[in-house]
Amino acid sequence: AEVVIVRDAEAAGELAASVIEQVLRDKPDAVLGLATGSTPLTTYAALAARRPDLAAVRAFALDEYVGLPEGHPQSYRAVIAREAVAPLGLDPAKVRVPGDDGGPLAGAGDRYERAIAEAGGIDVQLLGIGRTGHIGFNEPGSSLASSTRIKTLTEQTRRDNARFFDSPAEVPKHCLTQGLGTILRSRRLILLAFGEAKADAVAGAVEGPVTASLPGSVIQLHPEVTVIVDEGAASRLA
Ligand code: F6R
Repeated sequence: AEVVIVRDAEAAGELAASVIEQVLRDKPDAVLGLATGSTPLTTYAALAARRPDLAAVRAFALDEYVGLPEGHPQSYRAVIAREAVAPLGLDPAKVRVPGDDGGPLAGAGDRYERAIAEAGGIDVQLLGIGRTGHIGFNEPGSSLASSTRIKTLTEQTRRDNARFFDSPAEVPKHCLTQGLGTILRSRRLILLAFGEAKADAVAGAVEGPVTASLPGSVIQLHPEVTVIVDEGAASRLA
């Protein structure tokens, strides 16, 4: 992977936006892979400020909680609508989130994989990384070849995400997530991480052994990865 250490999250967002812009120049109807959480927000802001024409762009989110009431403001469907679709001016009809097709939960993962394939695959996938080393919600132990499926969130990840909810108990226990195999099929990956709390996960992902114990390490199997980190997140790199 190409690792770029930048001053702060804003600088990272500018750089990630430039990579995405370049993809869009070559392919105006590119397929974007969107992430949620705190990490991608500066990228969405930087990209929105450049006012790109995204009318033809299609997008697929990485993951979604399972079990939240329909329309919950912290559902990733709502988060993606608010934090990516609206500021970027994406066409909501061209944006998908796992489980949003109204079909049964059983088979939702396979249907999502089919939708990605029918769109021609994802051209550039944005990724954050969890302190457990997860990408998407592929927690430690996830198969390196996995596809979109239902997973159980670790207690650590539920605690980390409790800040978005009124109470820790409200954080769902399950999710639908693109698999590590799905992520590896994307043509290009941009992994962002900020702050010392991510330093071990970043070092493991970039320099550790490729292992299901640190799912982010699968990025080492991908030929086209840009890792953009601040000093804190880079602090355990050799
Ligand atoms: C979000 C996702 C997760 C987050 C990770 C980091 O769609 O798939 O892997 O990227 O949990 O979360 P933040 O960015 O909130 O630190």
